[in-house]
Amino acid sequence: MAKFTVNSFKKSKREGKKISMLTAYDYTTASLLDEAGVDTILVGDSLGMTMLGYDNTLEVTVDDIIHHTKAVERGAKNAFIVADMPFMSYHVSVEDSIRNAGRMIKEGRAHAIKLEGGREVIDKIEGIVAAKIPVVGHLGLTPQSVNMLGGFKVQGKNVDKAREIIEDAKLLEEKGVCAIVLECIPEALAKIISESISIPTIGIGAGKYCDGQVLVIQDMLGLYKGFQAKFVKRYKNLGDEVIDATREYIKEINSEQFPLKEHTFGMDEEILKNL
Ligand code: KIV
Repeated sequence: MAKFTVNSFKKSKREGKKISMLTAYDYTTASLLDEAGVDTILVGDSLGMTMLGYDNTLEVTVDDIIHHTKAVERGAKNAFIVADMPFMSYHVSVEDSIRNAGRMIKEGRAHAIKLEGGREVIDKIEGIVAAKIPVVGHLGLTPQSVNMLGGFKVQGKNVDKAREIIEDAKLLEEKGVCAIVLECIPEALAKIISESISIPTIGIGAGKYCDGQVLVIQDMLGLYKGFQAKFVKRYKNLGDEVIDATREYIKEINSEQFPLKEHTFGMDEEILKNL
């Protein structure tokens, strides 16, 4: 498997090769996704819900993301690792944003950072790119703005909002962003955006014309029992398998079917006699 690098984003788009991205937050999952050949792993702030049990992503900290990114980096040999900048880590000032992005690279060992928003955070994006840190953008439904958006809703459904997203995508490209996640926008709008820029779009709830796709791993494997968005495809139902396996384990402990001889260490008879 060839290593996916920052240059692979544009190359994949030029060659018409779709980009695969999945979230991961731990060593074991990252190593499995890497072995399967996923192009890029996102250490998303969705870990607030999937790993930490919060209601949304707003409480996630820079330290949380760094902690999980370190583990992912140890598991992934070829995948390109993107660390999500959490809420308020790139909102205060350009300096503060560069410092936080720098920590994700130096301490977390991420290859790039992702942040949400367009024109309103463009000075932060410029600063981070100028510090030689690759940036992945995120437009459409930006979950960190949930309180401003009034909920998790499809974005870009009217002319003004759709035009704003198209213009923001072009602005992000101009400022040197290497790819853009498009979340929860109509497929036709994602198609226009994907055809208007030379950097790849990575869709989640944005239809098939994006240059790549991303899903949250717990959703894709059926591990997360919370709310499931329309755009999620469950490739497996591992949640039910975990519950079944756990029930069987409990039953076998009670019926003394586990552990058996093959799971047990023997002891020398002579030593045993002396105890
Ligand atoms: O945090 C996350 O997992 C994300 C994806 C939904 C794109 O931002």
